[in-house]
This record gives sequence, C-alpha cells and structure tokens, in this order.
Amino acid sequence: MKEEACILIIDDESSMLNEFENVFTKEGYQVRKAQTWPEAYEYLKNQKFNVVITDVDMPDVDYQQAIKEIKSADKTTYVITSAGYSEIDKAMESLNHGAQNYISKPFDPIDIIASIRRVIEKQKLQSDNVQLFDTIKALALALDARDHYTHGHSQEVTDYAVAIAGDMDLALEDIERIRDAGMLHDIGKIGIRDEVLLKPGRLTEEEYTQIKKHPEIGRKILEPVRSLADKIPLIYHHHERFDGHGYPEGLAGDNIPLGARILSVADAYQAMTSDRPYRKALPQEVAISELNKGRDKQFDSRIVDIFIDVLKKNKV
Ligand SMILES: [Fe+2]
Repeated sequence: MKEEACILIIDDESSMLNEFENVFTKEGYQVRKAQTWPEAYEYLKNQKFNVVITDVDMPDVDYQQAIKEIKSADKTTYVITSAGYSEIDKAMESLNHGAQNYISKPFDPIDIIASIRRVIEKQKLQSDNVQLFDTIKALALALDARDHYTHGHSQEVTDYAVAIAGDMDLALEDIERIRDAGMLHDIGKIGIRDEVLLKPGRLTEEEYTQIKKHPEIGRKILEPVRSLADKIPLIYHHHERFDGHGYPEGLAGDNIPLGARILSVADAYQAMTSDRPYRKALPQEVAISELNKGRDKQFDSRIVDIFIDVLKKNKV
C-alpha cells in the first residue's frame, strides 16, 4: 500500500533533499533523507526501503559501492541514481552497476511520481505472488505430511531436480521454475480420495485410473494463479514417459518440457529409495540400475546420466 511505501533520498545538497521530500510526502510516501553516506547507511541497516534515490556524486562514497550496499541491505529495493546535467553519463552508466533507473536534476515531479507509483505497484504484486506461492507450497507440504510414506517427498524430489538442473547449467530462472514445480508437482493428489491415495496395498485398475488424474487436477487447481503459469506445464507433464507411453498426454522425447523430464527422474528415484507400505526402500545401486533400465523408455537418458553422476559425486 502506498502509505507503507518508504523512500530514501541520498543527496549532499539539502535543497535537493527537500524538493524530493515535498513531492513524495504529498503523495503519501514515507520519506527519509540522508545528506551523507554514513547517515544513509544507518537507515539502510535499520529499515526496508521500496525505493532509494541516490546522487551519483556523493563526496564520501563511490556510487557503485553505494548501489552494492543498498542492494545487499535488501535486493528488492529499487535503486534510482540522480545526477545533474554534467554527470548524466555517470548516471546512465550506473544502470550497468545495479541501478534500475536514473533521473536528471532538476527533475520533473510528474514524471518521477508516475514511475515510482509503477515501481511500488509492481513490488506489491511480486510480494503478493511470493505469499500466494508460500501458501500453496504449505498445502503441498501438508498433503505429503498426511501420509507417513510420502512425508518429505516433494522437498526431496525438488532437491534432486534442482541438483540435476544445476549440473546442466540451466539458467537461474529455469532452475527456479523447476524448484517451484517440484514443490507443487503432486498438488493434484488433493483431489484423490483418501482410500485410494492412502491405500497400503496394490491398486486396482480403477484406482490407478483415479491416481493418474492428479496431474490434470493439479493443473486445474493452479490455473487461476497467474504467476504459476510457467510452472504448470512441468507439473502437468511430470508423468509423461520418454517413449510416449506416459500420461496425461502421451507426449514423447523433446516434446515433454525439459523440466518435466527432470522431475520425472527425480520423482522415480525418490519413490524407489523410500519405504512403501508393500516394500522397503531400495538401496541406491538398485534404484540406479532401475533408472538405467528406463533409459529412453521411461526417462530421457541424458538426464539419467547427469543424475547418476550427481549422485555419485554426492552432490545431493
Ligand atoms: Fe506425481
């Protein structure tokens, strides 16, 4: 909310500080002013700021260092550098050092207010998304915890999948997508009847058909959450097989999203190496040989190789 948003202004000219303060307090933002870097640093240690506007030409700190310190106090803080006409090159250059925007002084209050409003709205949306994700994740963990045998399943599958993705040198955002999808991959089991989901013995064909609906149920549960859109394909396809004989769509090979192929290997290994009502956990060597048997049938062999390598190097 606007009234909770805090802005820190760092500038050695007090007239400039007052000008900024006037504009922002009129908008209802909380404003802190620092005329020296030590003063600013004191604020940063004690308070979270949505936005920091820092002069590129402070006498007691290099602006690159200042940006670094602001970001390490809170990486979600939006950093704007400010500069007079003669220093504008420096301000532009600051975008390469972690600043997200710059303004030239004297500034236009209308412009700056419009852009600060957008920034703060976006931050609010992101923090709502994080909270929403945490809530859904808590549900997934609660689902695992109901069954002694699947307790910790989602977390372990996620750890394995992230280790594989890391070893493949995937981009950070792809790894994060896999992490989130890993935590939620079985969320659709919420929609499966307890006597089927928690049944200790072998499943009948009809019961197995029920279980096989969980990727579709998961997709339906998560679809209304816009911020999860890019994770849903991984969740929906985590039971596809590389040879095309899996479910729900029977996709094959590279048509299965990479993240779903990774989750599939991680999921199978975790299931094999944990106790089940009808069998004890398989030893690691047996589980590995099962993964090898599934090469190009159930699993993408490239991912099997990477995972075995990761396990042997004890990276998980
Ligand atoms: Fe599953």
